[in-house]
Amino acid sequence: MVETLGVAVIGAGMAGKAHMAAWKAAPSVFSSDVPALRLVAVADLYEPLARECARRFGFERHCTDWREILEDDEIQVVSVVVANRLHREIVEALLEAGKHVLCEKPLSDSLEDAEAMAEAARHAEERGVLARIGFTFLRAPGVATLRELIDDGTLGRVRHISGRYWTDYGASPQAPVSWRYRGGPGSGALADVGSHLTYLLEFLAGPVREVSGGRLTTEIAERPLPLGNVVGHQHVEVSAETAPVENDDYATFNARFEHGAGSLEVSRVATGHPNGLVLEVFCENGSARWDQERPSEIGLALRGDGPRVGGFRQVILGPAHPYVAGGMAMDAPGVGWGQNQMFEYQARAFLEEIAGVPRDQALPRCAAFDAGLHNMRILAAAADSALAGGATVALDDASDELPLEGATP
Ligand SMILES: NC(=O)c1ccc[n+]([C@@H]2O[C@H](COP(=O)([O-])OP(=O)(O)OC[C@H]3O[C@@H](n4cnc5c(N)ncnc54)[C@H](O)[C@@H]3O)[C@@H](O)[C@H]2O)c1
Repeated sequence: MVETLGVAVIGAGMAGKAHMAAWKAAPSVFSSDVPALRLVAVADLYEPLARECARRFGFERHCTDWREILEDDEIQVVSVVVANRLHREIVEALLEAGKHVLCEKPLSDSLEDAEAMAEAARHAEERGVLARIGFTFLRAPGVATLRELIDDGTLGRVRHISGRYWTDYGASPQAPVSWRYRGGPGSGALADVGSHLTYLLEFLAGPVREVSGGRLTTEIAERPLPLGNVVGHQHVEVSAETAPVENDDYATFNARFEHGAGSLEVSRVATGHPNGLVLEVFCENGSARWDQERPSEIGLALRGDGPRVGGFRQVILGPAHPYVAGGMAMDAPGVGWGQNQMFEYQARAFLEEIAGVPRDQALPRCAAFDAGLHNMRILAAAADSALAGGATVALDDASDELPLEGATP
């Protein structure tokens, strides 16, 4: 095992900071038997942000041109955390330069680019260079618990599943236009949060075989131009000038999974739900639910409890559940955690894979780009369904093993 790996993060916006904090923590969550990390560089086009983030998270330097990272022999691992349409150029160049890449979801903003990236990743892997995509919520202890309860027969076979990811970052018409509001049909809320949701429902119910009932709507057709740098979902001072919103504020579709059918609904204009990701799965022996706004618990209803005492019970998650024991400095029952820890586990999983920690001693691996491509194919099928008035669209890439890494660390 190499002793030290050098890390860089490209993109210092909302999720970029989560990656920086995650890399800082990754060698110390669960155990210390992975390579030490040198936090080498932060790259962001906006220099004040790059400088501030490097200082805040303990990276040695910053730059505004990500190409500097290509040449830097002290960097072996890079997080790519910029707008989706920029992923391909940066990722391909990094892989070519021999850097291991952890790219944010969705893989890209077009199927064509995603296919090229998956191809580049396959070639890179032949040279021992890894490319992975971070579907962060896979690491939520509650989500992993649902998967365990399905796999171990407590819940048993999935009958049907429901997921919604309601957000409200675009609920105000004064929210300025940014890269998130630009792109073709399906590149809005569907790509942004629907990519997470789709991955998670597949994690529980198996690969999507077919989608139907697609619908995309744009509720706010024009948005003001920002007067300053916009990070993530921030609202900044805006100009009187507006630009058209090109993509979806709301999307919904139905899917037939390997196990059962289900519905998915996403929004970025759902006032009151800043991060409203909820999954509910209905199985032969009972039902279970996980809600990102209450991440330290699941709801569980077991049919065997009968009508007198049956019904949804609250199960507080703790060290008996995946990702908790050792996953936090204080891993006592009931301490609670949040989305930032998921980024730590994701970084840790990538670090373990790069270091060659065997699967049976490691966290579930991060998804390969082929899984990211499959995820984009589902989103594209949902958009195609919407454009064809809700028509049924088959998925023919039969990626049976892709998103179904084991649940338990
Ligand atoms: N896993 C998650 O939970 C999660 C959450 C949020 C975002 N994301 C993903 O992370 C990515 C970034 O999203 P975000 O919300 O952090 O975006 P953001 O707009 O907040 O940040 C993007 C940053 O990239 C910088 N940038 C733009 N062009 C650049 C270039 N050529 N070189 C270097 N930096 C450049 C911008 O200055 C900005 O600071 C997206 O792919 C998004 O889907 C994932």
